[in-house]
Amino acid sequence: MDKIRITGGKPLAGRVEISGAKNAALPAMAASLLTADAIQLENIPYVRDILTTRALLQEIGADAEVRQDGTATIKAAELRSHEAPYELVKTMRASILVLGPLVGRFRKARVSLPGGCAIGARPVNLHLMGLERMGARCDVVHGYIEAYTEGLHGAYILMETVTVTGTENLMMAATLADGETVLDNAACEPEVTNLADLLRSMGAQIEGDGTRTIRIRGVRRLRGCRHRIIPDRIEAGTFAIASAITRGDVEICNCEPRQLTSVLTQLNQTGAEVVIGSKSFRVRGRNPIISKNVTTYPYPAFPTDMQAQYMALMTQGDGSAVITETIFENRFLHAQEMIRMGADITIDGRQAVVRGGRPLTGARVLASDLRASASLILAGLVARGETLIDRVYHLDRGYYRIEEKLALLGADIERVK
Ligand code: UD1
Repeated sequence: MDKIRITGGKPLAGRVEISGAKNAALPAMAASLLTADAIQLENIPYVRDILTTRALLQEIGADAEVRQDGTATIKAAELRSHEAPYELVKTMRASILVLGPLVGRFRKARVSLPGGCAIGARPVNLHLMGLERMGARCDVVHGYIEAYTEGLHGAYILMETVTVTGTENLMMAATLADGETVLDNAACEPEVTNLADLLRSMGAQIEGDGTRTIRIRGVRRLRGCRHRIIPDRIEAGTFAIASAITRGDVEICNCEPRQLTSVLTQLNQTGAEVVIGSKSFRVRGRNPIISKNVTTYPYPAFPTDMQAQYMALMTQGDGSAVITETIFENRFLHAQEMIRMGADITIDGRQAVVRGGRPLTGARVLASDLRASASLILAGLVARGETLIDRVYHLDRGYYRIEEKLALLGADIERVK
């Protein structure tokens, strides 16, 4: 199994290009099931979760091609199955995103129920509640969600919790329903808006995406189109912290700084200098790194997907910072590994107290999930000596060649086969 080896202590400098957003690409690929025509996608990051989704689409009978240059063509003219099997869903929870499109277009689906995962329970009850409001029957049988409808109809759906993939699933299903669907307390994440843009290009009638209330007027059929995936704001944020934590000077290019406002504001408060351009921004790390509290919330607030990376930064802070995680109940697994590197972190339920000012020392550490892996790389970049990160497959699910990008910025980092 691959590992990542880092020798810390080098300030990063230079320019880095941000890849397409995995979390926008996955729903876009699932949305291609809503039409018999071809969907052409651009700026797809060539990462493991994308290849898993390709395998899933092929398994159910779509022609799905994903190329290293970031383009993909998907055509779901006819399907031979309506099933997302356990073997694929267990490796990638986002497989649940085929549920809405399958029920919307084919009126039936059988999708393995995702289990818990390292960061929390991650239920899908709101996806099922919404589909039932639209006239589907959803049963859980033998570990699978079996959904069936004689035809979906519009409905008013209030989601008690803001859910990103839940909003995406229901928005996709509603595009082909009879009448108008209103999704209330919907997720406003840029990935949801990017999906709405794709669906509109396919002929869907959607308004209000990017706000808490999305209205979808169902149409009879959708057509093929070409669509570009937005840049990955979490990858951009990860490089921003890489620059700040190493007291580097990095220009992060080919991204949408406006979608990172909460992260860049927070970073600025910790003392880093942030200069924002239209499609890029520059982060210059400064001494001292000021300890600042943060709480994760749905967009546009500070994202849970940046919490682990921010914790790495706070280990180098000049005081104490309280990090509060409100989205997932068990998303502090990286803290135990940082403690092995010499960090002073205490966890109490959904809060972590990080006392800064301790030099980290390189150690062998285990990645527990995607963003945790990124946070351990960041810790390794400032640790004295060598850090060896195991279970790098988590990293490969969502970051495109992160070690090569960091090496180009001057980091002493390599993949060990
Ligand atoms: C998505 C992102 C993930 C990010 C997360 C939060 C993708 C593929 N994944 O995950 O990277 O960390 O948003 O921004 O885009 N919930 C329910 N019932 C449901 C669904 C969710 O109670 O039916 C709760 C969850 O337990 C959690 C919260 O809602 O507390 C947010 O979860 P959700 O937004 O659904 O996360 P994902 O869409 O799985």
